[in-house]
Amino acid sequence: MAIERTLVIVKPDAVAKGVAGRIISRFEEAGLKILAAKMVHLTKARAAGFYAVHKDRPFYESLCTFMTQGPCVPMVLEGEDAIGRVREIMGATDPAKAAPGTIRREYASSIEANAVHGSDSPESAAFEIPYLFSTPEIFPRS
Ligand code: CMP
Repeated sequence: MAIERTLVIVKPDAVAKGVAGRIISRFEEAGLKILAAKMVHLTKARAAGFYAVHKDRPFYESLCTFMTQGPCVPMVLEGEDAIGRVREIMGATDPAKAAPGTIRREYASSIEANAVHGSDSPESAAFEIPYLFSTPEIFPRS
C-alpha cells in the first residue's frame, strides 16, 4: 500500500448542521493526517470547475448550486491507501445505501446533500488538490 493524498470536502450541509468537527475527527481517528484545511464559500464557477467531470449528468446544475449554498471545509488528507480508506469511512454516495457507522449514513440527508466528498481515484486527487489548495497551503507532516 502506498502513502496517498486525497481531497476531502466537508460539504455545506454538514457545516450548516454543525457536524464538521465530528466528521473531521473520524478521519483523524483513522490515522489520516490533515496536511491542509480551510473554510471557503465556493462561487458557482469554482464549484462547476471542480465537478466538471459530472457536467453532462442531470444533477450537475443542482449539485453546483448546493455546493455554493454556504461555506464548506476542504482538506488534504494523507495516509496509507488514503483514497480508498476515506471512501470507506464516508460510505456510499447515497446515504440510504451507506453502511452503518459511515459518515454519510450518520450525517447525510440525501444523495446530493451527502455531507462529505472524497477523491475517487489518484487521478481525481491530482486534479482536485491543486484546484483548491496552492502548494504553500499544504503542510507536509512526518
Ligand atoms: P461527491 O462524492 O461529491 O461526487 C459527486 C456528487 O454529486 C456526489 O458526491 C453527490 O453530492 C452528487 N450526486 C451524485 N449522484 C447524484 C444523484 N443521482 N443525484 C443528485 N446528486 C448526486
